[in-house]
Amino acid sequence: MSKSSRISGFHKMSPAEQRKAVEEFCGFQAGYLEKMDQDLSLDIQTASRMVENVIGLFEMPYGIATNFKINNKDYLVPMVTEESSVIAACGNAARLAREGGGFFSIVTEPVMIAQIQVVHIKNPHYALVRIYENKERLLALANEQDPMLCSLGGGAFDIEVRIVDAQPQKFLVIHLFVNVKDAMGANAVNTMAEAIALLIEEITGGEVLLRILSNLADRRLARSMVRVPKEALGGEEVVDKILLAYAFAASDPYRAATHNKGIMNGISAVVLATGNDTRAIEAGAHAYACRNGRYTSLTTWEKNIDGDLCGTIELPLALGLVGGATALHPKAKLSLSILNVSSARQLAEITAAVGLAQNLAAVRVLATEGVQKGHMRLHAKNIAVMAGASGPAIDVVAQKLIESGKIRVDKAKEILAEML
Ligand code: MEV
Repeated sequence: MSKSSRISGFHKMSPAEQRKAVEEFCGFQAGYLEKMDQDLSLDIQTASRMVENVIGLFEMPYGIATNFKINNKDYLVPMVTEESSVIAACGNAARLAREGGGFFSIVTEPVMIAQIQVVHIKNPHYALVRIYENKERLLALANEQDPMLCSLGGGAFDIEVRIVDAQPQKFLVIHLFVNVKDAMGANAVNTMAEAIALLIEEITGGEVLLRILSNLADRRLARSMVRVPKEALGGEEVVDKILLAYAFAASDPYRAATHNKGIMNGISAVVLATGNDTRAIEAGAHAYACRNGRYTSLTTWEKNIDGDLCGTIELPLALGLVGGATALHPKAKLSLSILNVSSARQLAEITAAVGLAQNLAAVRVLATEGVQKGHMRLHAKNIAVMAGASGPAIDVVAQKLIESGKIRVDKAKEILAEML
């Protein structure tokens, strides 16, 4: 039987105990995660191969969100973030989601779009049809650039052409659609776009200018859904409040930006943990949120006939398992083995569910007690540590700080002194 990601009391364990629990869940050898701090860390030589002018490394907290059940499979989800509460909130929402059977995610084929801009065309309408006439030649030339991708069943398979009526001139934009399989795909599609430029110029009589992928990867969509029984949320009144909170995000771009930022708290943390490109994912998400001309929520929330809360998310997720930092960074590789994913599509299924969970956590807390109570609890613990508390004293001092209403270092020092 597969193991459950519902590990009770996980958040109260020490990091060593948490590592042990992750090892057991993942079937790693006992003590494997001890290597996190040494052998599984990025070294300066590898870092220098990743980017330029490297003078050191920058550490970030690496945590685990528990409780995820996605498409009937349990997952522990690695998340890298500097923001407190994100990982805990995500795991809590995943626990609520389990009450309704967990998340169900579906993704499209991993299709990326390369854009080729053709300028200085005298007869753009005629040139547009000429491109379609030569479609097979263009696809064949594109696919010659990546025999490996084609042997895996991927490659360029379609073309779409538009005339863009811009200033100071009309130009053509050609979209090359490429199934990139388990790659993020930027390299593959950019190479193809550059390779077919000359032939496009020959066909159109124009001049090719830009040849680059689009981060609005709307042919590579991930969708996830969840049903949370009203009882798990504290009753139908809470469901109704969540619907009103969602209505705010759905209708007001100022709120939608924050709502979607909360979603990306979860998504970007997984994207970073797996060595993927956070900016590509964020650009795609926000552009997609604006696809109908007005910026809106990436999620939807509704109530079903039983009064239960039903949520969905839909966004482009250009995530890869091969190439780039995913292949080089030891912790990115570790993240993929913790997730035990076998395809980029499976990684997108998980990541979409994490975004939905993060949003569930946010709308629930915002529609009920507000975010500050939880933040203050954490803040109070940090202040207690800054004042010199350690071990069990941290919780005691933090509690007294909250009760006093003065969450300050001088107050924490005063409380500590009284305790001695
Ligand atoms: C904070 O990082 C994220 C939230 O602001 C998201 C939201 O408002 O929905 C809590």
